[in-house]
Amino acid sequence: MLAAIDLELATALRNEFIRQNMTIELIASESFVPPAILEVQGSILTNKYAEGYPGRRYHGGCQFIDEIESMAIERCKQLFGCEYANVQPHSGVNANLGVFMAILKPGDTILGMDLQQGGHLSHGARVSISGQVYRAVAYGLNPDSELIDYDQVRELAKKHHPKLIIAGASAYSRFIDYKRFREIADEVGAYLMVDMAHVAGLVAAGVHPSPVPYAHFVTTTTTKTMRGARGGVIMALKEFGPRIDRAVFPGIQGGAILQNVAAKALTFKLAMTEEFRNLQRQVAANAKAMASFLQNSGYRIVSGGTDNHLMLVDLRSKGITGKEAEECLDTIGITVNKNMIPFDPAVPDITSGIRIGTTAMTSRGLKETEMKEIAQIIVERLEHRDDPLVAGKLKERVKSICRRFPLYLEREEAQLLPFPAVES
Ligand SMILES: Cc1ncc(COP(=O)(O)O)c(C=O)c1O
Repeated sequence: MLAAIDLELATALRNEFIRQNMTIELIASESFVPPAILEVQGSILTNKYAEGYPGRRYHGGCQFIDEIESMAIERCKQLFGCEYANVQPHSGVNANLGVFMAILKPGDTILGMDLQQGGHLSHGARVSISGQVYRAVAYGLNPDSELIDYDQVRELAKKHHPKLIIAGASAYSRFIDYKRFREIADEVGAYLMVDMAHVAGLVAAGVHPSPVPYAHFVTTTTTKTMRGARGGVIMALKEFGPRIDRAVFPGIQGGAILQNVAAKALTFKLAMTEEFRNLQRQVAANAKAMASFLQNSGYRIVSGGTDNHLMLVDLRSKGITGKEAEECLDTIGITVNKNMIPFDPAVPDITSGIRIGTTAMTSRGLKETEMKEIAQIIVERLEHRDDPLVAGKLKERVKSICRRFPLYLEREEAQLLPFPAVES
């Protein structure tokens, strides 16, 4: 239908599908969702408006929407063992803003992880609303271990008396000691919010420690390792429920995106299966396999390894910047992102490192053997940057891996695509 109405858009969509299918996706925040998630996200729920919450709506005709949203809430509570959940935030940033709106006033102090050392923009970076409305103080890593410097967190907390301490990161490959964060928060009378967006799937599967027993608030996306709906979630102690509900709607949002709310319900159901837990174990095992191959090839992995789905590769000893590596790997169909390494001497547009994540390719069925093969391709490409012959051969190897592990192809889900699923 789409191709008949808008060929230009249909062509761009088809090309994006071919790109996803025929390249190796190593961006740590991405994953390939199950086809049923695509089905729900593209469903008739987009037609409905439902401001408010189940049983107290500002629109009529919400009986089934109420069922769907309640399903998402109850499944989230069951999956993560939390007392309260709000499944309406449109995104991860909105989930964080929802918590801020619920408990902070403009000018209040927040203490979050430095963006340049692995934190997220919405944890107090200057360019974000979180760093402009609130007085943001940043903690970082210990320069020797490249692990979170908990002593520094404590010192800064005692000095600045934040109302909210934020744990969680976008580029940190190690377990986070949530208990320690809570002890620091208690010592200075602060709330603790953990943004587990990157590791939520691992947490759900028991592969990563859960922040739920320690944090007053836990936020997440249902994308990334959760491998599901586009959007955000806030979990909290029950007592904060009414404040969070009011903060999300009408505080920062209007009507929820109901196809996303429904897809969150499905995401949580899928995350309770043994298949999902196996996938998450494989995601972590694949990251370890990739990191150790790169290390054995002379590449320094920040902090010496990984406990989760991602790693940061320090490229300085190889005389290549993160930007160059990203562009160079892109020419053979491997997608990574340039990333600051801790205490990076390079500017954010250039960087000295790349971030690699294993969720997306693991969800296509790749295991340790293929991860090592990909790591080998990366090493060869970066070490023969000026050799078009090598590049040509590596590009073929990338395509061969992609053909062996097709995305939504040779399966009935190809029907869901708005165009014939043609491989290039
Ligand atoms: C830790 C963390 N929190 C929040 C977000 C933001 O999520 P969204 O892009 O859905 O707003 C990200 C995105 O990558 C993230 O890494």
